[in-house]
Amino acid sequence: MFDSYEQFRADSGWEFGYELLGIRPGDDFNACDLILDRHCQAPAKTALISRTYQGERHEFSFEDMREGAARVASVLEAMGVQRGDRVFVLLEPLPQLFDAIMGTIRLGAIAGPIFAAFGAEAIRDRLQDSGARVLITAAHHLPKVREALQDLPTVEQVLVLGSATLQAGERSLSQLLEGASAEFQPYATAADDPMLLHYSSGTTGKPKGILHAHRAIVGHAITTKVVLDLRPDDIYWCTADPGWVTGTSYGIFGPWANHVTQVAYLGGFMAEKWYEVIEQERVTVWYTSPTALRLLMREGVAVARQRDLSSLRHICSVGEPLNPEVIRWAYEVFGLMVHDTWWQTETGCIQISNYPFMPIKPGSMGRPFAGTEAAVLDCERLEPLRPNQEGLLALRPGWPSMFKTYWANPDAYEAKFRNGWYLTGDRAYMDEEGYFWFVARDDDVINTSGHLLGPFELESVLLQHPAIVEAAAFGVPAEDAGEVAIAYVVLRRDQETGKELLRELRTLIRRQVGSHAVPREIVVTDHLPRTRSGKIMRRVIRARHLGLPTGDLSALEE
Ligand code: WT7
Repeated sequence: MFDSYEQFRADSGWEFGYELLGIRPGDDFNACDLILDRHCQAPAKTALISRTYQGERHEFSFEDMREGAARVASVLEAMGVQRGDRVFVLLEPLPQLFDAIMGTIRLGAIAGPIFAAFGAEAIRDRLQDSGARVLITAAHHLPKVREALQDLPTVEQVLVLGSATLQAGERSLSQLLEGASAEFQPYATAADDPMLLHYSSGTTGKPKGILHAHRAIVGHAITTKVVLDLRPDDIYWCTADPGWVTGTSYGIFGPWANHVTQVAYLGGFMAEKWYEVIEQERVTVWYTSPTALRLLMREGVAVARQRDLSSLRHICSVGEPLNPEVIRWAYEVFGLMVHDTWWQTETGCIQISNYPFMPIKPGSMGRPFAGTEAAVLDCERLEPLRPNQEGLLALRPGWPSMFKTYWANPDAYEAKFRNGWYLTGDRAYMDEEGYFWFVARDDDVINTSGHLLGPFELESVLLQHPAIVEAAAFGVPAEDAGEVAIAYVVLRRDQETGKELLRELRTLIRRQVGSHAVPREIVVTDHLPRTRSGKIMRRVIRARHLGLPTGDLSALEE
């Protein structure tokens, strides 16, 4: 494709994303039309291979997926859902999830994916903040959905797949779909109309809704082609769930924009099963995470050797720092280098990356995409630093898949843009050869297995327990998950600690937020360090917990 990074920078850029989609900058379009309808001409091609842990397997053509989306759009329209309304989707990665998201987008409404393992509180936060009118879910999620919806009148309808005894406000989507028309034409949206709302965690407050427009698919299309190196005959597998942005940008839009067949696997992590998917589907390109690779590594080389993994041609990773040991191990097992990629929910698509045509420096995130201007800024003047100086990682705004705003929070959006740069919230440095190296996040957000977790979310749930008066959560390095959460809690005076209390706290977090959020350790203490203005100093608790220097304590109240 390209001989070198320099040639890529010179000869590529976002404009090629438009070309790939058969449109021109300035054109209006509907993303569903461009990724599905455009590919429905004969000969038929498989769009989705759906596999489950239990061994179920089904294939769906682009035409099948177009029809599925059109049926959902028909149902939603008949219910009165309009352009710009929020339709949230709480489903496992099965074909129905793809139909629900693409059907919503087809109608010109905004799709909000929610990770199916989320607990009631996490679901409620997202529905409430977004003002969602409709929630699409499955019968087995109804208990937690009902809990989440108590006193939440904005959600008018819950559409339920599968059979269940329904209550007021709930309707059987399975039944509605049977009578729904598959002829629904994509709504003529403008390129800048909103289509997708993903929630991501911040340091303070509830998770923020990150809003993306139809134009995002321009970025998905070209980065998928160049970075993931997709070709027409590829079988591609993105291991991320569409509840997270990787699972939509690169588990729905990017591959289909390129008319490529992708695998959706439903089932938890299990090395043998994962290798089986690669072997049986003859997966050629694989987009996964450092956590997944580390888990595979822990299972050992022998498990991998039992399978024929020779179909693989290209492997990429995202979400957290990719350790050089993992790259070395993967090379031993797959005979391929893992290509690290860096981006965020806000950026919508890959911004800094390793490419098939560029030498990899293990541990580096790689170099900016053609069209991306990235820099490391000093913290005060917000001016680019010299190579090897550590500072704030920033991007020049204006790429096609840049987020539109934080939902109902324009101030938070404005605050991300300073001195002509978009501030990513990551710390990094660039070496003399222009490779970027990740250092840390610039805030307290915990990156556990590639999923961002806000300390505030965890603390709020801990405080729901009657025994707890104060709570502080922070992340610490962990070999398997990159980072894990640790919580410090202060008990009410008459409360006693014990295994039972800790178990209750863990259950509370699992039910309300999700199992990924359960702290590895909950420490009972009688005091939390605070600033004079009353803010909990998580940085100090964390340093003490790890036995590290506590740094500047001038703001401390003690
Ligand atoms: C944050 C964004 C977009 C993919 C999924 C996460 C961290 C992402 C890398 C990488 C080191 C990385 C950053 C970033 N991150 N990729 N290759 N090396 N850190 O999306 O939830 O918005 O998280 O994930 O801290 O800011 P997200």
